[in-house]
Amino acid sequence: MIARTTVRDALESVQLGSEVTVYGWVRNNRTSSSVAFASINDGSCFASLQAVFDRVSFPDASLAGMTAGACIRVAGRIVASRGAGQERELQASSAEVIGPVDGGYPLQPKRHSMEFLRSLPQLRARTGTFNAVFRMRHRLAMSVHEFFDARGFIYVHPPLLTSSDCEGAGETFQVTTLPLGSVPVKDGGVDYEADFFRRKAYLSVSAQLEAEPLALGLGSVYTFGPIFRADPSDTRVHAAEFWMIEPEMAFCDLDDDIALAEAFVKSLASGVREGCPDEVAFLGEFVEPGLADRYSTILDKPFARIPYDEAVAIVAREGAGRISSLAWGSALVAEHERFLADEVFGRPVFVTDYPASFKPFYMRLSDDGRTVACTDLLMPGVGELIGGSQREERLEVLMRRASAQGLDMETYQWYFDIRRWGTAPHSGFGLGFERMLMYLTGMKNIRDVLPYPRTFGSMA
Ligand code: 4AD
Ligand code: MG
Repeated sequence: MIARTTVRDALESVQLGSEVTVYGWVRNNRTSSSVAFASINDGSCFASLQAVFDRVSFPDASLAGMTAGACIRVAGRIVASRGAGQERELQASSAEVIGPVDGGYPLQPKRHSMEFLRSLPQLRARTGTFNAVFRMRHRLAMSVHEFFDARGFIYVHPPLLTSSDCEGAGETFQVTTLPLGSVPVKDGGVDYEADFFRRKAYLSVSAQLEAEPLALGLGSVYTFGPIFRADPSDTRVHAAEFWMIEPEMAFCDLDDDIALAEAFVKSLASGVREGCPDEVAFLGEFVEPGLADRYSTILDKPFARIPYDEAVAIVAREGAGRISSLAWGSALVAEHERFLADEVFGRPVFVTDYPASFKPFYMRLSDDGRTVACTDLLMPGVGELIGGSQREERLEVLMRRASAQGLDMETYQWYFDIRRWGTAPHSGFGLGFERMLMYLTGMKNIRDVLPYPRTFGSMA
């Protein structure tokens, strides 16, 4: 067993005067005429512990390897700090380099660009910024579970391998064990009978279709897992592999769905603000000066809500000559979303009731057939954070729209069945976990909130 005191305990709980042994990585080191310092981080908390070496007991040669990146063990006494910036420090009595760094260690105690750090995913967790981001990622995930657990939702685990393309956008990664160089052919096409599942298979683009039948038995459920989209958008908010949270509720209409989504986003923001004060303060200082205000933007006021029709009218009225126009019947693009959330409302805004023509078959059709009961939540600085809808619970309408959108009807029979046997009004939404984390950390690129980002054209 490795007998050690964590940096967290050394800073927060051990008695002043205690003898401890700390292990960790040197963030930076410096030397004055009589003492040398090394700040040690072991990941047990965001803060680092400053070790102080008396240069009489520690001649230069004994400190030589204790440079940025090295893993060291330091034994000594926890004392009140004489320097500014920390209450306690470690007065070293013995020290040892456990994991030396060779001369090529690329992280130096200075600010590196995000692009440079992206080329070193194996080292990003050693920096203050990514330490903060990944700790907040953890806190955000815990807040997700706390929110739903407190409301009686059941956490369900739908498959990642599916036979359907939920969003119908053709952005699926196909999964196959067929040899690509010599695929078996039958009737002029690929013989999927010879494939692993004896049919076409994909990685899931959304857990919704599998979550719906679970909700129509368990009442309120949620999923929280990886999602795969072969979307060739090379933007700062698109990843090919990301995480999504998808609650699905029986006996719930669009208004209930929107109320839950707002309560959820607010709860996530307060969970992270309370759970990660040091990280939020650090990122507010070094990454996004307005970070604290972002939390107030979520927490202090109700979110705005407008129907798509009004979004079109606002863009025509207030955006004319400044942003591209938006004709009724076409989708909002990032520019429109930013304009509405950042400029017009300055806070999160739900846009509801989009035209049926460009929305998936599963959204509930309005009586006049023009629109569907759906919503997107647009966030300042990030754009679309949530997509959700009331689901079409009427079998005939659902099948008509599915067929009109060219779905392979055989593949979806199991999904139609829940409308045959005990259908019920139900709704749900999907929240992009990384986009929420971008908003809460101030990180400007989705590649910087994922430990190992997978994006169009890049699997670094
Ligand atoms: O709006 P989307 O496509 O909605 C659905 O998939 C629904 N089936 C969800 C549901 O009702 N259960 O995706 C939901 C959210 C988006 O609003 C966005 O935040 C995120 O998932 N998202 C992405 N995040 C990162 N990279 C991508 N390529 C993303 N695509 C969607
Ligand atoms: Mg969407």
